[in-house]
Amino acid sequence: MTDQPTKLRVAVIGCGIVSKKHLRAIIKLEDRFELVALADSNPSAPGALLKSLKIDDAKSAKIFPKLKLFTDYIEMLETLHPDVVAITVPSGLHFQMAKRCLESGSHVLLEKPMTMKVSEAKELVDIARSADRRIAMGHIYRYIPLVADIQNDLATGVFGTITHGSVIVRWGHDQKYYDQAAWRGTWQFDGGALMNQSIHAIDLMYWLMNDAPISVSGVIARRSRDIEAEDLGMAVFEMRSGALCQIEGTTATSPKDHEARFFVNAEKGQVRVALRKGRPALEIRNAAGRNITMRYLFRALIRYGNTFLTRATNPHYGIYDDLSGAIRDGRNPIADAASGYQSVQAVLGIYASAKLEQKIALPLTGDESTLDMTGFFK
Ligand SMILES: NC(=O)c1ccc[n+]([C@@H]2O[C@H](COP(=O)([O-])OP(=O)(O)OC[C@H]3O[C@@H](n4cnc5c(N)ncnc54)[C@H](O)[C@@H]3O)[C@@H](O)[C@H]2O)c1
Repeated sequence: MTDQPTKLRVAVIGCGIVSKKHLRAIIKLEDRFELVALADSNPSAPGALLKSLKIDDAKSAKIFPKLKLFTDYIEMLETLHPDVVAITVPSGLHFQMAKRCLESGSHVLLEKPMTMKVSEAKELVDIARSADRRIAMGHIYRYIPLVADIQNDLATGVFGTITHGSVIVRWGHDQKYYDQAAWRGTWQFDGGALMNQSIHAIDLMYWLMNDAPISVSGVIARRSRDIEAEDLGMAVFEMRSGALCQIEGTTATSPKDHEARFFVNAEKGQVRVALRKGRPALEIRNAAGRNITMRYLFRALIRYGNTFLTRATNPHYGIYDDLSGAIRDGRNPIADAASGYQSVQAVLGIYASAKLEQKIALPLTGDESTLDMTGFFK
């Protein structure tokens, strides 16, 4: 008789828009994960989530035989003690829930942004370390096929010294998007286009550049949407190496034309990665100016085989896949707790710079919070 590897028992707290991607990943990785709970304070949300994935009672009983539904996540934790908890609730609730999950012994897959306050992110990093639990951040861009190979080559000097990077996130959302839930666009529970829609892009730039910021100068604006926080932000980071990195992040553009662009310039080549209207575009050039993109594509196709398309269309698959390995091997996930902490600092640094109208040193030395920005836009 062969030993069946034990599956990780996973619970999802928050059954809204992004939780669909989590469930799709869990279903695809059914050899390693078993969904045991859905928790949502809205009692109709778990049912609506399953229905949106075309999972009726019969199918649910078949693919999730142990699934239980909860309206109180603490009761869920105390009843089931899941191995992994995915937290997909409004961002202002991330800290309290992640803390509780780690303290009750679960590994955590935490959606971005990690927290809304510097000290809270630091506390999660510390709790995870002392409890020997993993935190995998929902920084999806790190998990898109090819990205890890490009990052590795940039980090190991294949492209030489990096001079600068640039990231654009034009992730348009109309007023209806913001009006669908009271938490969206508020300083307490969400932040604006930088904290919500751009934070994982900032994280990717740091990762690709294999660098850390030492200062930031930023400006934010509210141009088109009726929200408390910004719908547009621009900033320049000075990196430890001397490189510069600029960011434009906005939701004030067309909701029909989502666009994220990454550019890294190095002495021996350039990397351009883009996603526009769901279509990826890649261009990697070497020192001679030759387009060497296909090399990376073939490498990723060989590595990921028949999961390539799934990873490209649902990066949450990559997060769960990597997290199962991280738990098994006792290593950090690709997007670990430190990446969550650093990117929260980046955005809070931009907010502080905008508020104080000055360059801000990073890492932050105070306990900045999105709530510091209350009343910023009159
Ligand atoms: N990584 C990504 O690509 C990505 C994409 C979208 C959203 N997100 C992040 O995911 C999080 C959720 O976003 P969303 O768009 O799915 O939001 P949503 O509003 O669609 O869903 C949130 C869900 O949480 C539930 N909830 C609220 N308070 C709760 C509580 N106390 N206990 C249990 N459930 C509670 C709500 O009822 C709702 O069903 C946010 O932090 C967002 O930034 C990440």
